[in-house]
Amino acid sequence: MPAKIMRFESRYNPETGGYRPRLRAQEDYGSVEVEVGRLWYAMVLLLRPKFVLETGTYFGYSTCMIAAGLRDLGDDRLVTTIDPEERDHLWMGTRLAPYVRWIKARSQDAAEELAGSKFDLLVLDSDHHYNTIIDELRLYEPMLRKGGCILLHDTLFFDGVGAAVKQLQNNPKFEVVTLPSPRTHGDLRGRKPGVTIVRKIREKGPAIAFERQYDGLFVGNPHEPALLRRGGRPGDKPSAE
Ligand SMILES: C[S@@+](CC[C@H](N)C(=O)[O-])C[C@H]1O[C@@H](n2cnc3c(N)ncnc32)[C@H](O)[C@@H]1O
Repeated sequence: MPAKIMRFESRYNPETGGYRPRLRAQEDYGSVEVEVGRLWYAMVLLLRPKFVLETGTYFGYSTCMIAAGLRDLGDDRLVTTIDPEERDHLWMGTRLAPYVRWIKARSQDAAEELAGSKFDLLVLDSDHHYNTIIDELRLYEPMLRKGGCILLHDTLFFDGVGAAVKQLQNNPKFEVVTLPSPRTHGDLRGRKPGVTIVRKIREKGPAIAFERQYDGLFVGNPHEPALLRRGGRPGDKPSAE
């Protein structure tokens, strides 16, 4: 791993799942936890994708984890990452840079530029409103090859993303598993972000639809268990994780 990325990881506080800032007082929760970054790296080694699409670049920590996996696999591989905000990206000036293409746009606006592309892996981690994640799934899932996977972060924190995952769970095109992830934000009783791994097992099946009941959904009620953990089957009890 390039020294620049290791320095970034050294600011991680495993107690809270945040990153200690250099100048500001508050920890930053914008990047995925180091444990999740390492999971993304391992998933790339496991699935051996050639082309990866990521939404939500931020400073590029998750992008670097994906790019490190692509570089370790060898051959021509690329992660395309989409974010409208320009930041001091972590891959710049490192040997990971040739494996990354950044598109400065909202994910909803970049699809035209990517028309005709095929991806082996989607990593969706942008603004976490239901409307955005559904737009992303509707635009980019058709570009995912059969057998390819979708990785999502924050599915147990933001009910907007959880609602979209619920739809994928009910769609026979996909198999889905959701796991807790370690970030506590300093509140041990609060929700943890969580990760969801989705595999596209069939090409044909119901299209992903916008469900009006979730219009505008973002965090939901943070004092309740996450939407994805509020049952769904008769007799299910809510679980914090
Ligand atoms: C949670 S951060 C991404 C963290 C990053 N995946 C990581 O772990 O290092 C969310 C990012 O999504 C970006 N974003 C917000 N709305 C977006 C949209 N419509 N399309 C793409 N990116 C968006 C924000 O600018 C922000 O950088």
